[in-house]
Amino acid sequence: MTYHADEKGYYGQFGGAYIPEMLYPNTEELRQNYLQIMEEPSFVNEFQSLLRDYVGRPTPLYFANRLSDKYQTKIYLKREDLCHTGAHKVNNTIGQILMAKRLGKRRIIAETGAGQHGVATATVCALMGIECVVYMGEIDIARQAPNVARMKMLGAEVRPALSGSRTLKDATNEAIRDWINNPVDTHYIIGSVVGPHPYPDMVARFQAVISEEIQAQLIEKEGTPNPDYLVACVGGGSNAAGTYYHYLDNEDVGIIAVEAAGKGIHSGDSAATSALGKVGIIHGSKTLLMQTQDGQITEPYSISAGLDYPGVGPMHANLYTSGRGEFISITDDEAMTAGLLLSQLEGIIPAIETSHAFAILDYKKFQPDDIVVINLSGRGDKDLQTYIDYFKL
Ligand SMILES: Cc1ncc(COP(=O)(O)O)c(C=O)c1O
Repeated sequence: MTYHADEKGYYGQFGGAYIPEMLYPNTEELRQNYLQIMEEPSFVNEFQSLLRDYVGRPTPLYFANRLSDKYQTKIYLKREDLCHTGAHKVNNTIGQILMAKRLGKRRIIAETGAGQHGVATATVCALMGIECVVYMGEIDIARQAPNVARMKMLGAEVRPALSGSRTLKDATNEAIRDWINNPVDTHYIIGSVVGPHPYPDMVARFQAVISEEIQAQLIEKEGTPNPDYLVACVGGGSNAAGTYYHYLDNEDVGIIAVEAAGKGIHSGDSAATSALGKVGIIHGSKTLLMQTQDGQITEPYSISAGLDYPGVGPMHANLYTSGRGEFISITDDEAMTAGLLLSQLEGIIPAIETSHAFAILDYKKFQPDDIVVINLSGRGDKDLQTYIDYFKL
């Protein structure tokens, strides 16, 4: 029994590659090469030295004293907010740009919601001198303006997605369309553990540096590699996949995944995919997704652009249906309150996506000697205006 992908990219019944024929050569080239390339010593060396010297890894595992005091348990924060560009997304984009170069690609496309993945992609393209086009929903362009400016400053072209809810799902549709039209010289850097095989597995492997570091850091601090619980927010699921990766098959370690309930799970304005989702296919992957009776995708909603997605990666769909993971949905209001609390108790302003993970502390009672690791997936600079408007600061 494993919670990792099999060689066809299935996690239980979820995953695989459900793609139009015109996309087949692109994903097939990647599928045939990704594992071999990731194992080449020159690839491993380049990836690890960029993570160390450019991204600033390892990120600290910080014991949150005042937060632990308040909730009467031992809370550690994995500080992905301290990565260069301010979130975990760059772990994946460094890996994928090195992959694209080895596959001889000269142009990069990406989708983005919160803009963190867009910035991380624009950053590595600048680093390598490669052309970069980022698709972003029109709504997200408005609510994540600082990140749009950063992408442009880094030399990327930001193309608005104008269809559907004009958010992450629609940006992903546009990126896939571009890739179909540019199959030879373009690599699509997907920003989460979503999409057709091999993306979910490849992105999870690049993000697995998070759990690898947690293991070593917990040995140093607590004398054991294992926490009692791991907590992460889930949009597509990449920071969560990276946090869980080395613990997936170790059932002594509890897994808690936190989704966005928006204005309430049953309000009609939500992105609580596991609670509301049914089996279906989105962006090339069989997974849980929010849909109508006739299988039309339901428009998602969350105050946080990075969680505003109607599907979830296949790894997480399997963690949910198998019961290996506990899934909790958090509303906009609960997340915003938790973000303010973290700012004032620990001096760390989190991204609104990340704030969702902290809000579970008011729901889930931990024991005083439990070790709880919360992945602090990103910093809140991009969300300052939303916090200011919400709290009338
Ligand atoms: C800081 C932060 N955390 C979490 C997410 C959600 O993405 P994922 O579920 O792939 O980690 C995003 C997405 O943009 C993000 O910017």
